Amino acid sequence: MTSSSFKTIDSMDVAGRRVLVRVDLNVPMKAGKVTDVTRIERAAPTLSELSAKGAKVIVLSHFGRPNGRHVPEMSLKPLVEPLAKAVGKKVAFAEDCIGPPAENAVRALKPGELLLLENLRFHKEEEKNDGAFVDRLSALGDVYVNDAFSTAHRAHASTEGLANRLPAAAGRLMQAELEALHKALGAPKRPVCAVVGGAKVSTKLDLLGNLVGKVDKLIIGGGMANTFLQAEGIDVGRSLSEKDLGATARGILAKAKAAKCRVLLPIDIVVAAEFKAGASSSIVDVKLCPADQMILDVGPKSIALFRSELDDCATLVWNGPLGAFEIEPFDAGTVALAKTVAELTAAGRLLSVAGGGDTVAALEAAGVAGRFSYVSTAGGAFLEWMEGRTLPGVAALIRAA
Ligand code: 3PG
Ligand code: MG
Repeated sequence: MTSSSFKTIDSMDVAGRRVLVRVDLNVPMKAGKVTDVTRIERAAPTLSELSAKGAKVIVLSHFGRPNGRHVPEMSLKPLVEPLAKAVGKKVAFAEDCIGPPAENAVRALKPGELLLLENLRFHKEEEKNDGAFVDRLSALGDVYVNDAFSTAHRAHASTEGLANRLPAAAGRLMQAELEALHKALGAPKRPVCAVVGGAKVSTKLDLLGNLVGKVDKLIIGGGMANTFLQAEGIDVGRSLSEKDLGATARGILAKAKAAKCRVLLPIDIVVAAEFKAGASSSIVDVKLCPADQMILDVGPKSIALFRSELDDCATLVWNGPLGAFEIEPFDAGTVALAKTVAELTAAGRLLSVAGGGDTVAALEAAGVAGRFSYVSTAGGAFLEWMEGRTLPGVAALIRAA
């Protein structure tokens, strides 16, 4: 999907107009303080640009899952300052996203000024995509900009409803996400390699099923690799695995074979008797996992194999860590492969796209997130996109174009 499939803010006349901008300020917070400002910083360019063009910028977001109730701990108010800092301008706040508080605050806005409305999900109608609620939101603006790819898998009032009601366009972050994802799986340069890791096959069945029909090579790591190894008759000792998914795993491998997708599983493994930082571990052949130990990472031979397989690839898409990366030394495989990807990307030999909550954390821990071609801000939306699903928020923008 290129920007010819949806409108961008280039084609929108915003000067002096009220622009409703859906962003994703659902950021990690601890004790009222934001612990990771990535989503705020990535939302800022669209807000700054609209403000510079003289728009009255009305910012919409959800936070957490308050289930339609007013939950004070989930107020967006603590995000006013971090947002103002990222945009470099003052941001006003309205205590509700509809009704008099919102209406009065919008009326007070001058061209170029910004206003953040309270958490949309304090109203149950947001998640229900309720028509009357969409009406009340849309009455606050003249046009709508969706810059929240990471919530585009939700068909909510602010992510889908508004696009059907007002002239709609993608913001710069949405545009960048869609263009990067298009290059990665939509119309990629081949060969394409996918790296999929994480704990369980069961959470990624649709994703794996979709990928084997699209990519040329599929590297599988993490706990989910154990299920595949076991399905092929390899003893995985006390490793995390889903025994009842053997037939499913074999089905995915058969589908891959039919689609000429090469599936690469670990050939050596890092094993330990317990899962804790600095636990004594050893590297063994994949067929030699001791009965009383568990697989916690891929070994150096696996990394060398994955590296050589990446060498001729033009495109890479990555979701999920290869090992138990949150604990040293079991992060080594993920870090080593991520560094290779960063180097190939820097050399101009690889277009690399990564996404999904744990993935971004792993790449950041490896210090290479900034060296991938694109790292998505999305968790669930990235997974649904990898599953080949239509994201309602994106579909609505395309329909509106
Ligand atoms: C996310 O953090 O994944 C998005 O903001 C969506 O949040 P949700 O899963 O609560 O809809
Ligand atoms: Mg989520």
